[in-house]
Amino acid sequence: MQTVQHIAELRTQVAAWKRAGERVALVPTMGNLHRGHLRLVERARQLASRTVASIFVNPTQFGPNEDFAGYPRTLEEDSRELAAAGLDLLFAPEVAAIYPRPLAEMTQVSVPGLSQLLCGASRPVHFGGVATVVAKLFNLVQPDVAVFGEKDWQQLIIIRRMTADLDLPVEVIGIPTVREADGLAMSSRNGYLSVEERVIAPTLYAVLQAMAERWRAGDRDSVALENAAKAQLAAAGFRPDYVEIRRADDLQRPEPDHAALRIFAAAWLGRARLIDNLAVT
Ligand code: PAF
Repeated sequence: MQTVQHIAELRTQVAAWKRAGERVALVPTMGNLHRGHLRLVERARQLASRTVASIFVNPTQFGPNEDFAGYPRTLEEDSRELAAAGLDLLFAPEVAAIYPRPLAEMTQVSVPGLSQLLCGASRPVHFGGVATVVAKLFNLVQPDVAVFGEKDWQQLIIIRRMTADLDLPVEVIGIPTVREADGLAMSSRNGYLSVEERVIAPTLYAVLQAMAERWRAGDRDSVALENAAKAQLAAAGFRPDYVEIRRADDLQRPEPDHAALRIFAAAWLGRARLIDNLAVT
């Protein structure tokens, strides 16, 4: 596996692959990799003859009081795992390569509407930062296909919308959430949990599953279901941010018989903000 820090080296290698007629897949990450990320690489390798992953802790998607400074940076270990997973090229740029000027002076990408809902309501700058960096990564790598986890479902559909709106020639693929044996969705932020919190953490998934069961059994009072779920989470020790049943494709509130619904939740447990979602129908 080749590791490059500089944009020129990245472009040279990808251009050589493209000239040779190879198909390129991109897996964008912020590092601190877990099995969920490696599943993305595995899928990327099925979809293309060459695979690129990026590791870049993107400052613009963190709010002023969020965990940018403390976000785990484990480049050496991540590189070993990516090489073992059969990746061809790791792009690990410095912040100055991606943002050569202060953000206020740079072109930014925003996806209105979708970015303000759910996680966007409590993290107002987050999805603008994600859309901007992913647009830049798509332009830098010029992949044919890019692979993202469905754990960040809202992020996935925002990236799909951005790709469609900007006519970027990239196919965006979502991969089902990878979970620990007890149901906890894998996330780099699970590392923030204390031993006691780690025992409580799978309750988030269990509460969402129970809520989905009630909906499938015919209970269509979404507000009552959401309030009950938040109360259960609070009783277990979480500080719920939101629990919402929404349409999967546009995150709007459901009509009772909408075909594709998902439950979305975010809740704090200690210093970890955990998110999860699952299909209801
Ligand atoms: O999901 C992530 O790890 C990040 O939001 C992403 C897509 C790599 C953009 O920084």
